[in-house]
Amino acid sequence: MLDHLGDFKRDYFCGELTENNIGDEVRLLGWADSVRDHGGVIFINLRDREGVVQVVVDPSKSPEEAYEKSKKVRTEYVIGVRGRVQRRPAGTENPKIPTGTIEVIADQILILNTCDVLPFQIEDTVKVSEEVRLKYRYLDIRRKPMFKNLLIRHEVYQATREYLAGHGFLEVETPMLTKSTPEGARDFLVPSRLEKGKFYALPQSPQLFKQILMVGGIERYFQIARCFRDEDLRADRQPEFTQIDFEMSFVDEEDIIAISEGLIHYIFKKVLGVELKIPFRRMTYKEAIERYGTDKPDVRYELHIVDITDIVRDVEFKVFRDVVQKGGIIKGLTVEGGASFSRKEVDDLTEFAKKFGAKGLAWIKVTPEGFQSPIAKFFSQEKLNQIKEKMEAKEGDLMIFVADIPETTHRVLGFVRRHLADRLKIIPEGRWDFLWVVDFPLVEWDEEENRFVALHHPFTSPKEEDIPKLDDAINNKEVALSLKSRAYDLVLNGEEIGGGSIRIHSSVVQEKVFKLLGISEEEAKEKFGFLIDALKFGAPPHGGLAFGLDRLIALMVGAESIRDVIAFPKTQKGNCPLSGAPDYVTEEQLKELGISVEVEED
Ligand code: AMO
Ligand code: AMP
Repeated sequence: MLDHLGDFKRDYFCGELTENNIGDEVRLLGWADSVRDHGGVIFINLRDREGVVQVVVDPSKSPEEAYEKSKKVRTEYVIGVRGRVQRRPAGTENPKIPTGTIEVIADQILILNTCDVLPFQIEDTVKVSEEVRLKYRYLDIRRKPMFKNLLIRHEVYQATREYLAGHGFLEVETPMLTKSTPEGARDFLVPSRLEKGKFYALPQSPQLFKQILMVGGIERYFQIARCFRDEDLRADRQPEFTQIDFEMSFVDEEDIIAISEGLIHYIFKKVLGVELKIPFRRMTYKEAIERYGTDKPDVRYELHIVDITDIVRDVEFKVFRDVVQKGGIIKGLTVEGGASFSRKEVDDLTEFAKKFGAKGLAWIKVTPEGFQSPIAKFFSQEKLNQIKEKMEAKEGDLMIFVADIPETTHRVLGFVRRHLADRLKIIPEGRWDFLWVVDFPLVEWDEEENRFVALHHPFTSPKEEDIPKLDDAINNKEVALSLKSRAYDLVLNGEEIGGGSIRIHSSVVQEKVFKLLGISEEEAKEKFGFLIDALKFGAPPHGGLAFGLDRLIALMVGAESIRDVIAFPKTQKGNCPLSGAPDYVTEEQLKELGISVEVEED
């Protein structure tokens, strides 16, 4: 028989008790973290969200009823304890827990619920698969690290609201059942029952609505918004995730950047007690790609990419010469101390590079005996020295090179750079290296789709000086690729944590950009007609940004995956092991929606 809670109320959380409570009678509620019987004396570590305290049930001090009850308590039973706080006898203190110098001698024990055999122990580090953790997420959340992550997340919400509301931003909700918003991913669709055959899309972001709020004269909007994107999942990607989304009217890039920096500074100070240095460093997109091989460079370490095309354009080595002749480039990285890499280690690095599209990886070691490399014979000593100098290599280093079209060369070296940094353990701990990436191109060419796509999204404004070039760009690829946008991304330790732009507020410019993106007038009208219309009714100049809240928090708490900072995340396959979603629905439900489903056999 279980006990009733009745009017038993907790006086303190377990973790709140201190030596100041010695002598107090207290009532506590929580879970039996562990139960030990030491020669007739029962020790229960009682745990609640704030911590653990030791409860002692000693037949010579506690009433018999309490003692008998305590014998029935098992791990994770839900219990209530009334007792007296006392100092632990000398020599029995536990320095590992904050309440380690005190204990509670029980006078009364309530067993409020029992607990089945656990699929895993409630410990700081769990040894079971993530699938099992997610299936029993309620047990997982009882673990201290998970609770801490959710607590920090809560504190970030509060700090965000304080800061933005304090700066005149209005919190406005935008619809979840809406039309497709193009952020470049696939939409999740929701069938309409009232209009059979029609679908709502879940928003990929509140982008269009926040712009429309600006046309509505809201001036400053924010929302902690859920976004939905049906894309391939990774450690830093979930099908539903959360943004700190904001938009402002009558602003330029500097205003958005200043508010963003102010907000991040406030969050770090308030939640982590960390005083960040603002303004954050800035880098152009061009430099990011050319020096770091990515648009989200990790600048906690240098290891940058060096261009040696000019030095090797007419060397004997055919691979390099051919690539240069075809308009490609040769770039490399200097691996400090890499001359000691074994043949196998170099081969592994080559295989790694090939995974990202490299055709090979040329390498030269700088040893006390001179240059050592299978390709050294194709270079004069003078060339080798020139390369070494440009690469800032010294004795004991390894130089590696990729020759290819710029896009491939940069991409491969970007991945190799990150891989090497991990391997060589050159990433300093405890750094918060924020970086704005600015001056993005407006569009890039998409080979698969055979059209231009927006680097940010189609509502991003070109730089003012590029607006007159839009007409030309529609028929001239080179002009199109030279256009710059008013977009900016915020990167933290090599991860993109936010992005935004100044928007197009003229319907004429917006229509031109749609045209450039190969979106026909009809399609534009069909998909975004409501935005184009709104822009015609006195839309103010405006812009904004969205932070990936899950990514930001994952970085703040040092989690490997954003799944660890989301209460109920999906697996890599998009499933929820706890609820079993997605799942089949009844024939009846489908019929009501006018939907028939063809199930593909595997
Ligand atoms: P963007 O698409 O860059 O911009 O998204 C903003 C930020 O959201 C985070 N993010 C994600 N986090 C987890 N899982 C995902 N699948 C995922 N996708 C994106 C990233 C990213 O920087 N409407 C624009 C913002 C604007 O222009 O104001 C937008 O959504 O950290
Ligand atoms: P090969 O002439 O194909 O035997 O290549 C000689 C060396 O150059 C090998 O170490 C290859 O890995 C390397 N290599 C081949 N293609 C490239 C390339 N595109 N970029 C850099 N190195 C390459």
